[in-house]
Amino acid sequence: MVKLDGESSHISFEEIEEIIVLLKQVSGFDLSGYTRSSLKRRMERIMGLDNMDFIDLKNALTNVSGFQTYLMHEITVNVTEMFRDPEFYHELNSSVISYLRTFPRVKVWSAGCSSGEEAYSLAILLSENKLYDRSFIYGTDVNSAIIETARKGIFPLQKIKTYTENFNRFNGESSFGHYYTVKYDMAIMSNILRKNILFSTHNLATDAVFNEFQLITCRNVLIYFDLDLQHRVFQLLYDSLSPFGFLCLGTKESLIKHDIKDKFRVVSRKYNIYQKIK
Ligand SMILES: C[S@@+](CC[C@H](N)C(=O)[O-])C[C@H]1O[C@@H](n2cnc3c(N)ncnc32)[C@H](O)[C@@H]1O
Repeated sequence: MVKLDGESSHISFEEIEEIIVLLKQVSGFDLSGYTRSSLKRRMERIMGLDNMDFIDLKNALTNVSGFQTYLMHEITVNVTEMFRDPEFYHELNSSVISYLRTFPRVKVWSAGCSSGEEAYSLAILLSENKLYDRSFIYGTDVNSAIIETARKGIFPLQKIKTYTENFNRFNGESSFGHYYTVKYDMAIMSNILRKNILFSTHNLATDAVFNEFQLITCRNVLIYFDLDLQHRVFQLLYDSLSPFGFLCLGTKESLIKHDIKDKFRVVSRKYNIYQKIK
């Protein structure tokens, strides 16, 4: 039967459960803690783009080489930018940097860093505050392809316009141009920033603590997780923080629904910045 464009790109919640089980069987990747509304949106998008129905999707998952990775990458939303929410960076600068100065070494974890813009933004923030020489940043993400992009640190020049505007809103005094060089239509992040950043894969849903940090950002990641998975991730982030270390969430994410909130002090309710106190 000929399928018309978009005709079949509907998936029911029961079918989503089948895909979750199948993906875990064939690749080990477990989507069971992701919100069903976001899984539905993403799966229907893939089905629409590839003009697939549910049976095609199942077939591709089991028979088409590389499709599991493609599906997994499409489902984990990678939208990001440098100095995303400039006011958040402004708040971080005014409320957290002075505490970070009191630590002899500053270890930072950008968890769910996508293509690295968040990690580079943190490197610039620390650099502007003359703290970068004694800092080290780990950028991690579940998506290995996006981590490769982060490692390269090369971004399309057309994105740099927005990143520069964001930077200027967070810090009107210095120049963003200082942190990259231009080659053709790409911006290459400076070696001064890259020398203290390590990018690697890490799955917040299954992997363990790997270091102790004075600052962790996990922004715009937990919105895709259900409450149980959020609970697991908050425990992991708590266990990864040094005493009096800081945790930063996205603007739509909060600790409020989780008992672990009692182990933190709220530094900024508006920007979801917390400090471990117990
Ligand atoms: C919307 S991006 C946010 C990027 C950046 N933190 C920001 O706020 O701009 C969400 C990122 O979370 C990552 N992610 C999704 N599930 C994950 C998991 N289980 N473990 C680690 N990263 C995950 C995705 O691959 C994606 O790069």
